Amino acid sequence: MKKHIAVQLPPEPVRGYGILIQPGGLASLPAIIRKRWPGRRVFVVTDTNVARLYARSLQRAFDDVGLDSALFEVPAGEASKSIDIYYALTGALLESGIKRNSLVVALGGGVVGDLAGFAASTVLRGVSFIQVPTSLLAQVDSSVGGKVGIDHEAGKNLIGAFHQPSFVLIDPEVLRTLPPVEFRNGLAEIVKIAAALDKRFFRFLEQNASRVTQTNTRLIAQVIHRAVALKAAVVEKDEREAGLRKSLNLGHTIGHALEASSGFSIKHGEAVSIGMVAESQLALAAGLLNPDEYNRLVRLLGRCGLPTQMPTGLDAKKFYRALAVDKKNTGVDPAFVLLRRIGASLIGVRIPAPMVQALVQ
Ligand SMILES: NC(=O)c1ccc[n+]([C@@H]2O[C@H](COP(=O)([O-])OP(=O)(O)OC[C@H]3O[C@@H](n4cnc5c(N)ncnc54)[C@H](O)[C@@H]3O)[C@@H](O)[C@H]2O)c1
Ligand SMILES: [Zn+2]
Repeated sequence: MKKHIAVQLPPEPVRGYGILIQPGGLASLPAIIRKRWPGRRVFVVTDTNVARLYARSLQRAFDDVGLDSALFEVPAGEASKSIDIYYALTGALLESGIKRNSLVVALGGGVVGDLAGFAASTVLRGVSFIQVPTSLLAQVDSSVGGKVGIDHEAGKNLIGAFHQPSFVLIDPEVLRTLPPVEFRNGLAEIVKIAAALDKRFFRFLEQNASRVTQTNTRLIAQVIHRAVALKAAVVEKDEREAGLRKSLNLGHTIGHALEASSGFSIKHGEAVSIGMVAESQLALAAGLLNPDEYNRLVRLLGRCGLPTQMPTGLDAKKFYRALAVDKKNTGVDPAFVLLRRIGASLIGVRIPAPMVQALVQ
């Protein structure tokens, strides 16, 4: 005889969070935390570069407002999104007495945000965390939306969770110290957001590309605001990436394969830039995109100082193996997010494998 038991749970509590974009805002983080989360212990996770520039002074600022904080540094770079570093970090958090009501602060680029967010989502079955993104890429993309995770030998971001931050603080002033190549990486995600979702924003970028620099804080704050607002609106409609949110994976199917097959020597933003162009070539070949729109995309990426061509000497076997394991794919022919025109994309477009294989011989 079959017996069914239903587990009925109350609806989730109202969730949601604020995103503050404020030049110089980093200095006010301790006061914000003290006001909104009084008495919580703060566990700041950062990387070696950001520690040197910002984390130590931030820790002093926590002391000044009477908040108990501890600092955890991981080596800078994608290699820190590994199971080993994750294990060491969660071990250090536990050893330092992290509790369910503690706060994890991810202070750094997307690597720190993804890793610290994943540690926060799993340690003690989940503690709250705050994103304080310091790279342009993290400010416009990875810090908003709650995707956290680490890499696996089989591919990028294959182990992870959805764990929304409790608050995001974006301080565009810190971009002044970012290596220029990292700034360009962030521009790739901005172009992606505009190309996938908003032709007016794309036009704005075309008109202002040369003025969007690390030191033009006013303009970059405006650009960050637009990009984050677009991303937040998508996340609100489709948090778990059942449909619409997939449009933000424009350039990423090929981008991730490029990163993995180059042993991560190609940076994420560069890979996404090349990925957007290569995928748009597929869209052209499939008759989905017109050549004028394609040319606008290539031109804007080029003006942002981003690569637009497949690197030479790529290991084709590794590249196609990486494409096949891209976790967003569910069938045999790889599926792509393809540009229909600037500001509009199509998700889940299956392209016959031989057409894709023409990209890298
Ligand atoms: N979770 C998501 O939704 C999402 C979205 C996009 C990308 N990502 C992930 O983000 C990662 C890439 O992030 P990233 O490009 O920020 O890389 P990153 O975190 O490695 O940062 C880039 C470099 O800049 C340094 N840095 C950061 N801020 C600085 C500052 N203000 N001054 C000086 N140096 C600074 C870092 O130490 C690092 O060396 C990838 O792993 C990617 O998969 C995640
Ligand atoms: Zn990305």
